[in-house]
Amino acid sequence: RTARFTLDPAFTVGEVNPRLFGSFVEHLGRCVYTGIHEPGHPTADEAGLRQDVLELVRELGVTAIRYPGGNFVSGYKWEDSVGPAEDRPRRLDLAWRSTETNRFGLSEYIAFLRKIGPQAEPMMAVNLGTRGVAEALELQEYANHPAGTALSDLRVHHGDKDPFGIRLWCLGNEMDGPWQTGHKTAEEYGRAAAETARAMRQIDPGVELVACGSSGQSMETFAQWEATVLEETYDLVDLISLHAYYEPLDGDVDSFLASAVDMESFIENVVATCDHIGARRKSRKRINLSFDEWNVWYLSRADAQVAALDWPEAPRLLEDNYSVTDAVVFGSLLIALLRHADRVTVACLAQLVNVIAPIMTEPGGPAWRQTTFFPFAQASKHGRGEVLDVRVDSPTYRTEKYGEADLLHATAVRAEDGTVTVFAVNRSRTGALPLEVTLGGLGLTGVVEHSALADADPDARNTLAEPERVVPHEVAGTALRDGTLTAALEPLSWNVIRLA
Ligand code: AHR
Repeated sequence: RTARFTLDPAFTVGEVNPRLFGSFVEHLGRCVYTGIHEPGHPTADEAGLRQDVLELVRELGVTAIRYPGGNFVSGYKWEDSVGPAEDRPRRLDLAWRSTETNRFGLSEYIAFLRKIGPQAEPMMAVNLGTRGVAEALELQEYANHPAGTALSDLRVHHGDKDPFGIRLWCLGNEMDGPWQTGHKTAEEYGRAAAETARAMRQIDPGVELVACGSSGQSMETFAQWEATVLEETYDLVDLISLHAYYEPLDGDVDSFLASAVDMESFIENVVATCDHIGARRKSRKRINLSFDEWNVWYLSRADAQVAALDWPEAPRLLEDNYSVTDAVVFGSLLIALLRHADRVTVACLAQLVNVIAPIMTEPGGPAWRQTTFFPFAQASKHGRGEVLDVRVDSPTYRTEKYGEADLLHATAVRAEDGTVTVFAVNRSRTGALPLEVTLGGLGLTGVVEHSALADADPDARNTLAEPERVVPHEVAGTALRDGTLTAALEPLSWNVIRLA
């Protein structure tokens, strides 16, 4: 059976905020060290930043980059990470049982962003695990105050004359998680976040603040956590965070392929909770969503990997190697974010390099693209504009976790110049999916491109030995005639169909 939907310019979801294509750099494994920073690497610049990685980061099209964690931030002392690199202390990183050298710190992070280009924006997390209001204020003063105070002058003295101009701040990380250093109850965290937010706004009322939501929809405290935290912080913050990672459990690939069903319900449940608190407070303000950690992650393997560590520097950790199947699920997660662009105004792919990442590197060697690199780069490039409302009529398949799920998962974005890009995933592992899209009143006349990521081997991946084993390919036969788009979506595929 054919899967169908209709696009109409009158039916829209909302504008895509460029911050939807954010990512995340945590001091974890080799994300920073030998990932983005490797003095002595053949491509390293004077600051030790790998140019080969910078080029791939630009190609990926990332915008906001969250830093420095993650679980790492709950032990972070920002002052360890500034000043002459050779004077910085080595510290235990409790989150990842590693040794942090602080060779890369705040100033290097800002330099990295500036080298990516104007599209890159800082998104800085403050430590509300082992620290509180005072240290958050000190960091803000050091980073953002122009000059003339002890901490802003210290930054200038350290060589950064221009303030860093950090607007977007995360008030801690995953504070609902018992694994978090300094874990708190919702009441404790809500108070800490409110007081930190109030004080940070005293320095600068224009900062944009993200309160910690739940580390996942399956957390026992989910929804009540958000409600309690927002009761305390509603007038003081702008966004609440969501984190979600997906993997096939017990070999259940069919449910894994429908992971976006969970992601979409998570988003909708958080929106409902935010709006419920808004309604209770008779507030006209809307809290938006920062989906600031999302990805495919083989998380069930991670605990044992971390537990086996004996405080090494930059170990190989969480270096998942993504297959075509993973990339199709990943693409579907991107579609879920775009479908909720009216409320999800920040999202960060966790993470950027080496650690559950679209970009991999070898110390002293090359950098390459994982399969997940392509859906992200294509969505960031072509997914800018207004999201059109897509309601699919699709054949379904049975999943253990989510019941009947649509084989087709799709969204469409209309750019400023009137061109439209359809992003679509076929979740079927066995059959091509015929697609028909009725394009009412969009003034489109032809297909510019139909690109797909699919492979006869759904387990195919890119590796150091074969870095370009999987790349997107052109699909023939996709047509737009008399206002109807027709295409065949290959089994287990991510598709980008551009119309003009
Ligand atoms: O991204 C890896 C980890 O996942 C982060 O440090 C933490 O916030 C989450 O649990």
